[in-house]
Amino acid sequence: MTIEAFAPAKINLTLHVTGQRADGYHLLDSLVVFADIGDRLWCAPGPDMRLTVTGPFADGVPQDARNLVWQAAELAQWTGHIRLEKNLPHGAGIGGGSSDAAALLQALGAADSGLSLGADVPVCRAGSAARMGGVGEEVTPITGLPSLHAVLVNPGLHVPTPRVFAALDSKHNAPMTDMPTPMTPVAFDGWLRAQRNDLEPPAQAQQQVIVDVLNALRMRDGVGVARMSGSGATCFGLFDSRDMAERGARDIEGAHPDWWVRACALS
Ligand code: C5P
Repeated sequence: MTIEAFAPAKINLTLHVTGQRADGYHLLDSLVVFADIGDRLWCAPGPDMRLTVTGPFADGVPQDARNLVWQAAELAQWTGHIRLEKNLPHGAGIGGGSSDAAALLQALGAADSGLSLGADVPVCRAGSAARMGGVGEEVTPITGLPSLHAVLVNPGLHVPTPRVFAALDSKHNAPMTDMPTPMTPVAFDGWLRAQRNDLEPPAQAQQQVIVDVLNALRMRDGVGVARMSGSGATCFGLFDSRDMAERGARDIEGAHPDWWVRACALS
């Protein structure tokens, strides 16, 4: 029997770096949501492990034990043939291999959280809005978020996560402030504007194009908060409506045909 799984894009609406452990890993406080676009997996059990990678972003993705999906299968003691359709840019701050690995662990009902595969794997297993703490192992579901209409933009370059963390000015920053109750769209928007992605300044310092991506988002009609996700380079903009997000996406795509641009819903 084939198992199908969806690995959505992960978006850090906020990413506060609040400390650093002795082993170098950073303590995070992050509001994470998931898009209705993502990679897909089809898994057919069998005696041997085999991985086939297809899709628009298959180039350069390993089809062997270097792939996190393969490592997730090993963690779950599962073997068979996996087809992985890469629809999302990878090394892009939106989950990538962590989301793929999490989708497989979740589909297989694995007991292991997958933290050893990547800091984002436990939150990606939640698959819907959650607050992530610790180095990624603390996951608290968040309910009651307003509808979020977003545009995701990736300028097609890879930002190595360790380099961005290493370039942080301060590793001890304030956590998120309390989320509003109830989370009306206006209250949530006001709260979100006052939060941060602490990795945005060091990522921008290394890749000036991230500034251009954020400016392109901020120029559109109906846009609210625009911010980088994860360690970049993908940025998101939140829009007043689905229509405005789709219009904004078309305009950015028209001006920057070489960028990856998608309108989507986040939850
Ligand atoms: O866990 P993951 O492979 O996604 O992390 C990539 C890199 O990001 C780590 O090797 C580490 O340098 C950095 N990182 C960190 N603190 C975290 C998560 C990631 O310093 N909480």
